[in-house]
Amino acid sequence: MVNVEEKHTRREFLKFSALGLSAVAAVPSLVAGETHSTMSVYEGYKKSRVGSLAQLKKAGEIDFSYPDGNALCKAVYVNNEVKAYSIICTHKGCPTVYNKEKALFECPCHFTKYDAKKDGQMVIGHATGRLPRVLLEISGDDIFAIGVDGLIFGRINNNVG
Ligand code: FES
Repeated sequence: MVNVEEKHTRREFLKFSALGLSAVAAVPSLVAGETHSTMSVYEGYKKSRVGSLAQLKKAGEIDFSYPDGNALCKAVYVNNEVKAYSIICTHKGCPTVYNKEKALFECPCHFTKYDAKKDGQMVIGHATGRLPRVLLEISGDDIFAIGVDGLIFGRINNNVG
């Protein structure tokens, strides 16, 4: 049996909890009203040559590192388009393997698959996001990496270069 004083306390607790939750819920809308960008595109890295367009069309894929030697990436030629991604799985950081026939980046650790044709979108698996996309510039037969759209897993200096 609950006495009146205890009931009152519970009611007050619930009332103040509801007020607290309302206040917390209001904070994101205030933050959203600010001018912060929520995009994770980073174009401040040094421009770096990936390879030649002719080489990519012939091989279907080119391995490279970007924005530095510790960041493994792959350029692929799918649906007559040049695309490039960090190959590091966004789930827990294993390097994915590119399945050229299916145009999928497949993670051997927990089997997440990413679609190379659809900007690295996650198709199935444990990851919650797509692969980071390497922004490219094509000049004549040369392919250059000029930025990254997304955060590379485990990289503590994603926005430093
Ligand atoms: Fe790739 Fe877990 S690390 S699915």
